Amino acid sequence: MSKFSHLRRTLIGGALSLALAPLSTLAVAAEPIVIKFSHVVAQDTPKGKGADKFKELAEKYTNGAVKVEVYPNSTLYKDKEEVEALQLGAVQMLAPSLSKFGPLGVREFEVFDLPYIFDSYEALHKVTKGPVGQQLLDKLEPRGIKGLAYWDNGFKALSANTPIRTPADLRGKKLRIQSSKVLEEQMREVRALPQVMAFSEVYQALQTGVVDGTENTLSNYFTQKVHEVQKHMTISDHGYIGYVVITNKRFWDGLPAEVRSQLDKAMDEATDYANQIAKEENDQMLEAVRASGRTEIHMLSDEERAAFIKALLPVHKKMESRVGAATIKSIYEATGFDPDKF
Ligand code: LMR
Repeated sequence: MSKFSHLRRTLIGGALSLALAPLSTLAVAAEPIVIKFSHVVAQDTPKGKGADKFKELAEKYTNGAVKVEVYPNSTLYKDKEEVEALQLGAVQMLAPSLSKFGPLGVREFEVFDLPYIFDSYEALHKVTKGPVGQQLLDKLEPRGIKGLAYWDNGFKALSANTPIRTPADLRGKKLRIQSSKVLEEQMREVRALPQVMAFSEVYQALQTGVVDGTENTLSNYFTQKVHEVQKHMTISDHGYIGYVVITNKRFWDGLPAEVRSQLDKAMDEATDYANQIAKEENDQMLEAVRASGRTEIHMLSDEERAAFIKALLPVHKKMESRVGAATIKSIYEATGFDPDKF
């Protein structure tokens, strides 16, 4: 190569890299921030729809500076793995049920699992939309997790292949539960055999008889097709299932302030939406289960309900050491729940 052509190449190369420099800087700046939002339920549920709404609003309010990828139905991670993935930064957002925070070291959320502690969404919202709910979210921060919002699902039904009309009908049954000590105690209280299992495994476990029954909301029952493998369902409303939307605190705090405030706005609106549709979604799914004709639905009479309350209420006292007597008391005070009334 002649001296001249070498010089020419160097000059052209220099000019080229100069010309390209601003472009590549722009390209980096235009790269969207990706939020992977992983969850375990179907898209067509209150949580699934809430996550999709957050995606829509977050991308709109940030003008595409943020891209939200929603992975429903345990397609990315199952219950336990998703929390590890969040801590490691492999995903940025989750909405685990309140029953699944024990393994994270925050047992107080299991207070929401106490049987019959909430008798309506209104009572529940006095906690989740008030200071007690905020104090619970604050407990996540030392674990490197930020709690962004509470999302509703609904009240639980019980299912099995034999009718459940009294607490005694659960005796000796293997029942799938979520990973909560309060739920474990609840099942032991009626002498059932609780089996902790990931949500993604429930259908098969019921189908093959690994467990005899379970508890869940109607939206989860219907979308997981549980009614196809359980002959009986009892609308007991004995407990509540809801979520905390969580993110990795380091990731959240590291976002540009403007982006974070747009995401806060998107989260607030997605939360209102999710909480508005939750009851209706579950009511509709109850009708869908009924219409399927695959399972017999039993509504508890007032006397039957009173018998379940009487059988399960001792769990509150027994779980004081697990979730804290003060936590239980703060919920009683917020909702007006009086255990001595029963
Ligand atoms: C479960 O039973 O594991 C569910 O409550 C899952 C969910 O996120 O609703």
